Formats: sequence, C-alpha cells, structure tokens
Amino acid sequence: MDAKTDTAPIEVLEDLLASRFSCRAFLPQPVPRAIIERILAAAQKTASWCNSQPWQLVIASGAATRKFRDVMYGAASSGKPNSGDFPFPREYRGVYLERRRESGFQLYNSLGIPRGDKAGYARQALENFNFFGAPHVAIVHTDEALDKEVDRLAATLAGNAPRAMAGMKRAINEFARGTLDEEAADRRHRDSMRSAEISEGIAAFAEKRPPKF
Ligand SMILES: Cc1cc2nc3c(=O)[nH]c(=O)nc-3n(C[C@H](O)[C@H](O)[C@H](O)COP(=O)(O)O)c2cc1C
Repeated sequence: MDAKTDTAPIEVLEDLLASRFSCRAFLPQPVPRAIIERILAAAQKTASWCNSQPWQLVIASGAATRKFRDVMYGAASSGKPNSGDFPFPREYRGVYLERRRESGFQLYNSLGIPRGDKAGYARQALENFNFFGAPHVAIVHTDEALDKEVDRLAATLAGNAPRAMAGMKRAINEFARGTLDEEAADRRHRDSMRSAEISEGIAAFAEKRPPKF
C-alpha cells in the first residue's frame, strides 16, 4: 500500500492505464514548461538496452509549432506521394484488419463523418498533420549511428548462422501450425549447440569479427 494514498501500486497503475486515451482535439493553451519537464523526467525512467537511453527530444511551442504544422500540413495536403522514413505495413489481415476497421468507424461515428465519405476520411486523416490543434509537438529522434547499428545487427542475424536460423524458423513454423514435435526440436537444438557453426559464432563474437560459415 502507498502510505500517502492507501492505494496499492497496481491499482494506481490500473487507474492510469484505464483512463489513458488518444486525444484527437486539443485546447490551444500552452502546457507550463515545469509540467512538460516533470512528464519527461518520469518518462526518462523507462528501460533501454545497456541503459543507452537513445532517445533525443525536440519540443516545439508557440510560433515553432505553428511553423512546423504549416510545413507538415502543406506537404501532406499537396497530393504528392507519402515519402515517410518507415514503410506502412504490407497488409492488415484477420484480427488486425478488424481492429483497424472498428477503430476507424468509432472515430468517424464520433465525429459525425458518414460511412463511405472518402473526403471526410481524408480531412480527418490530415488532422494528424495539424497535430489535432495541439499547442506543442514533440519529435523523438535518435542518433543516426545507433539506427545504422540496429540495421547492421538485423542483417547479420538474418544472413548468418544458416543452420541455427533454419532450425529456429522450422520450430516457429511448426509451432504455429500446431505440429511441433518438441523432442525432435530439442534434439535439433542440442545438435546445433554442438555444431561447428556455434563454435565459429562464439569465436567471431569474442574476436569482434564477422563469422565465417
Ligand atoms: C505507434 C502508434 C501510432 C499511432 N498513429 C496514429 C495516427 O497517426 N493517428 C491517430 O489518430 N491515432 C494514432 N494512434 C492512436 C491509435 O489509433 C489508438 O491508440 C487506438 O485507436 C486505441 O485508442 P486509445 O489510444 O484511445 O485507447 C497511434 C497509436 C500508436 C501506438
């Protein structure tokens, strides 16, 4: 129990999570700097790999928000193709498609945009670039070198240790199909742990060089 409030920490967390929602219309009043700093100090306590805390933030207020919004809104409504840094998902299917549709219809219903009103959908989508009228905007970015390192690591994992990767892929696929023979998978895992591939992988890691398979 929290001595100050007589409330168990899990209840505090449950209340906070239950009252969280994505706001899509903001009042124009600026948020006092002390409150922004307090929120950031709390957010700073989240976990990061090797405690690298790789995030950097730019927070715009007043004229800077307006300037940024004008550029973003102008670009988004120009009709030019979207050229974001990250591609959109290839496809939403199954439950993901259902959730996405449901969320869209709830949003349009609450805004009084009728079903099939494509222009209304587009106007609402553009509100993203109007920052939903918010007086501030936060841009979270990271050091370019860290991002490249993640790409390199992903490529190394995908391209190397062919035997281990094939074994893992097979186990995941069999598990997904409900046909996984756990004993056989264990046997393959033990064989793989004794293989030349794993010794080379460990040696390469220790010597900080790419492995040779
Ligand atoms: C990574 C991420 C990106 C999102 N992008 C948008 C967005 O571009 N526009 C928008 O209106 N909502 C966006 N949302 C909000 C989600 O649609 C929202 O979280 C979801 O509908 C659930 O509603 P709730 O957050 O109110 O519980 C995003 C949420 C996340 C986590």
